[in-house]
Amino acid sequence: MKIGVLASGEGSNLQAILDRVHGREGVEVVAVGSDKPGARALERARTAGVPVRAFPVAEHADRRARDLAVAGWLEASGVELVVLAGYMQLVDPAFLARFPRRVINVHPTLLPAFPGIGSVEQAIAYGVKVFGITVHFVDEGVDTGPIIAQRAIDLPDATDPDAVRAALHPLEHDLLTDVVRLIARGAVGFDPDNPRRVVVRR
Ligand code: GRF
Repeated sequence: MKIGVLASGEGSNLQAILDRVHGREGVEVVAVGSDKPGARALERARTAGVPVRAFPVAEHADRRARDLAVAGWLEASGVELVVLAGYMQLVDPAFLARFPRRVINVHPTLLPAFPGIGSVEQAIAYGVKVFGITVHFVDEGVDTGPIIAQRAIDLPDATDPDAVRAALHPLEHDLLTDVVRLIARGAVGFDPDNPRRVVVRR
C-alpha cells in the first residue's frame, strides 16, 4: 500500500510511520507534502529518501486549487492512503472525492470532544481528567469523520498544554502506525448497517 503523508509542522507522527511501517509489510511512504515549505516534517522525509513537495496556498489561485494540486501530485505518486499527520489545513471536499474513505487524521483529543484547533487547551480549560487521542477517517466536517481507534490516558491534574501534548505523543505514534498497518492488511471496514461505525478485525 502506497501512502502519502501531509504534515505542517514537527512531523513526529510522520517519523513514527517512517521508522515503524515504511518499507515493511508492503507499506511504502511515497510522498510527503506540506502547506509550509519550512516544515520539519519535510526535512524528516528527505532524510528518509522520500519525495517531498510544498504547496503554499499563495502559489495557487485559492485553497481549492491548492488542494487539487496536492491531490494530483499524490495520485501521480500512486498514493492509496492519505495520512494527515499534524496537517493544519482543512482539505477541500474535491480532494476527499479523489480519495474516498482513504484519508485519515490523528487528533489529540477523544472525539467528538474538542474538535478543531487548540483542542488540548480546550480540554484543560474544561477540566477533563482523562485525555486521549483519536485516529479517524476524514470527512467534510472538522474532525467529524468515522472513528477508527482511540486511546486514553489519566491526567487528573493537568494544567500545562505542552505537558499534555508530550504525554499524548507516544500514544499517537503507537496508534497511528497501528492503524496504518491494519488498513494495509485490509482489516478496517465499515458496518453495513451504520457507516459511521468502523469495524476493525484484529
Ligand atoms: C499531533 O498532536 C496531532 O494530534 C495534531 O498535530 C500534532 C502533530 O504532531 N493533529 P507532529 O507534527 O506529528 O509531531
